[in-house]
Amino acid sequence: MTHRIALCGDLLDLTADPGWQVDAGPAVRFRPDSCLLIDEAGRVAGVEADAAAVDAWLGSAGQRVDCRGRLVTPGFVDTHVHAPQLDVIASFGTELLDWLNTYTFPAERKFADALEARRGAELFLDALLACGTTSAMVFPTVHKVSAEALFEAGEARGMRLLAGKVLMDRHAPEGLLDDVEQAERDCVDLIERWHGRSRLAYAVTPRFAATSTPEQLQMAGRLCAAYPGVYLQTHVAENRAEVRWMAELFPAARSYLDIYAGHGLVHDRSVFAHGIWLDDADRAVLRDARASIAFCPSSNMFIGSGLFDWGQAEAQGVAVHLGSDVGGGTALSQLRTMADGYKVLALQGQKLTAWKALYAATLGAASQLRLEHEIGSFRPGTLADLVVWDWAQGPVAQRRLEVARDLHERVFAWMTLGDERNVVATWVAGRERYRRPDATAIPQP
Ligand code: GUN
Ligand code: ZN
Repeated sequence: MTHRIALCGDLLDLTADPGWQVDAGPAVRFRPDSCLLIDEAGRVAGVEADAAAVDAWLGSAGQRVDCRGRLVTPGFVDTHVHAPQLDVIASFGTELLDWLNTYTFPAERKFADALEARRGAELFLDALLACGTTSAMVFPTVHKVSAEALFEAGEARGMRLLAGKVLMDRHAPEGLLDDVEQAERDCVDLIERWHGRSRLAYAVTPRFAATSTPEQLQMAGRLCAAYPGVYLQTHVAENRAEVRWMAELFPAARSYLDIYAGHGLVHDRSVFAHGIWLDDADRAVLRDARASIAFCPSSNMFIGSGLFDWGQAEAQGVAVHLGSDVGGGTALSQLRTMADGYKVLALQGQKLTAWKALYAATLGAASQLRLEHEIGSFRPGTLADLVVWDWAQGPVAQRRLEVARDLHERVFAWMTLGDERNVVATWVAGRERYRRPDATAIPQP
């Protein structure tokens, strides 16, 4: 970027965990008809509502981008999603273990091919941007080339990505298996080449305990210990048949989570997807380690895994953020994920406010990933990853927004009725990276 930008609209971000109240106080920061000041390095310099002050800050070379009447939020963070599973989204009729064998494993085999991996990574990241997701923690496949393709495509788009080659050395078909020695060499090579480069970070990625031998889990733990800045991502306690299988495979472990704990994989950079069937002792382990859970409501409903009890996790001090879990989940849109999350909690007598949902998809995820200095809010100094939204798309949402009586009602209606069609433009580090084809009203930066 060579010039300053003032992007003007209804700015909404969170400054802290809003708790579960509709009246969340200063944790919710809504600055309607205000300008986000973006400096030459693509960072947030501040927010200004006064037109003359904006002009003075812009100087003669700066540019105003007029999104007035539209909502502007930080870019969303998806903390659990599978890049190679766009081909199996919306697959009929199975629960987790059959779903993996019937649809997912066959689809992932294609990513052994470098061209296929690159095409898939580009399609996937462009689809994320079109949904307003600018940061993600991503599973590619077991193939080293699929991780490289993802990192390359993420770097080309300037995105904040956390990813790592999937580890799986058993209980998967030919073409999807690695072995401990080669996998360790591949991981070390990928970490040394990609971790900390651009906006990329490495995540050690055992798929789940069933597809790694104890020796491979041990190796994953060794990597986490040898490279303290890397992350860890995996699945835990998603589906009841899966939990029973883990008990057979690891009879000495107290629980499914305990398998990971016993291999040095539960730490403050660990993200566990699902965690539906954990118990109190597991949650205490997660809390004490400051590890966290990616709640994936769309996936949990679609492949019939169960209802995640966010209230219980919160009561025990476990951090929770939001994952789309595509292709188990049926949408990359974090708005749809939030709306599904509301319904999953509603079935358990809990109420997910728009503030809590937004926090989980922005600053909450950023803080848990130790990235709040870079993403998740409009705090000065963060990179200007942002989304310009239509408050409403179509007459029904339009009407509902018009009759909303207060800000929460309005934002909740946007969150519940909205999806990727509401995304007007997505910016990454101060540059527009997606624009809805019909959105001509915004001047080109
Ligand atoms: N458990 C192991 N692999 C997967 C996967 O690809 N998706 C989901 N939802 N759960 C898993
Ligand atoms: Zn998953």
